[in-house]
Amino acid sequence: MKSKLLLSGLLVCLSLHDLSHAAGDPQTGRAKAQSCVVCHGPMGISVNPGAPHLAGQPAVYLIEQMQDFRSGKRQNPVMSVIAKPLSDRDIQDLAAWYASIEIQIKQ
Ligand code: HEC
Repeated sequence: MKSKLLLSGLLVCLSLHDLSHAAGDPQTGRAKAQSCVVCHGPMGISVNPGAPHLAGQPAVYLIEQMQDFRSGKRQNPVMSVIAKPLSDRDIQDLAAWYASIEIQIKQ
């Protein structure tokens, strides 16, 4: 009985884990990122010296920053306004897009 309970708990964890991985869709995010291009660049490499590069950042970091702008925890005159109307789904898709871009570091 006890082991059955443990097993079903484990299965719930596993399926939640799967869901969080399948959450964001990079191609949907790319389409949604059209309004970000003017500052963050078409491939997430910023074209505006005041805006940071987003390409190759971990999705978990990008999600947190967008959620913080949306909630007001992180404040910026531009990003606070841009993040306000984003849904959780938008944030996941946008983060998946920028995280999917591979960057190369050279010296
Ligand atoms: C008008 C210019 C502009 C546009 C358009 C814009 N951003 Fe930004 N973004 C900024 C600036 C400036 C910052 C840095 C804010 C700060 O200093 O806190 C920033 C920061 C961010 C960050 C945090 C990055 C980090 O490393 O901390 C994310 C994530 C982000 N933007 C996502 C987006 C997304 C997604 C869109 C489109 C929906 C978008 N931005 C549109 C200017 C812009």
